[in-house]
Amino acid sequence: MRTPLVMGNWKLNGTKESVAELLNGLAGPAAKATGVEVAVCPPAIFLGQTEALTKDGAIEFGAQNCDLNVAGAFTGETSAVMVKSFGAKYSLVGHSERRTLHAETDEVVAAKFKVIQDNGLVPVLCIGETLEEREADKTNSVVEKQLAAVIAAHGVAALENSVIAYEPVWAIGTGKVASKEQAQEVHAHIRQWLAAQDANVAAKVQILYGGSVGPATAAELFAQPDIDGGLVGGASLKVADFTAIIEAAQ
Ligand code: G3P
Repeated sequence: MRTPLVMGNWKLNGTKESVAELLNGLAGPAAKATGVEVAVCPPAIFLGQTEALTKDGAIEFGAQNCDLNVAGAFTGETSAVMVKSFGAKYSLVGHSERRTLHAETDEVVAAKFKVIQDNGLVPVLCIGETLEEREADKTNSVVEKQLAAVIAAHGVAALENSVIAYEPVWAIGTGKVASKEQAQEVHAHIRQWLAAQDANVAAKVQILYGGSVGPATAAELFAQPDIDGGLVGGASLKVADFTAIIEAAQ
């Protein structure tokens, strides 16, 4: 049985004050969220504050990205070792905004996946197609290619201690959430494709949906058999909305 996971990706948002307000507001709903894991991924600058404000353990947290390097002359980067030192559990890897804005190829994503995992964090592998790829009926081949890069580099067993987040690029930040049918179709394909390589990994790995998840759509998405929760952007920055999404996962 896979534990439902509701994860907020705060992207480049927040101040010291707003982070405190958001985490204090989420503490109660997260503590009440029986059978659902709640996590947030703040900008790395807030990891220390996040650790301090989530000491009761109700909210897990992670990074949005980690560098290939863990220490040294890499100005501006975030180290998996440093993230782990704050008590973080997760790190996103391969988010579409990293792939497009920072030219992160499938191979770089696969390499980062391993650095994250080797340093005691759970990688959240973000995959998904663009609108152009969907309209060209390439959705399945795109997500297969993105998964295959990690498997080719590290073996399918590496996915056992990871989370997959299917985020159709055309739904990210657009308000155009995938329908429950569209999302379930791709999630089921991902799981079936993985099962052909390792039935145990396919059964165990949580597959989150991300892309304009909101209070109005969360429940029907999370009710799908192959959707194990959500990776939430904009709505995770609002206590009421993220609380409603957490409640929808129960
Ligand atoms: O990583 C989650 C994010 O890409 C989704 O953003 O604002 O569409 O929920 P949003």
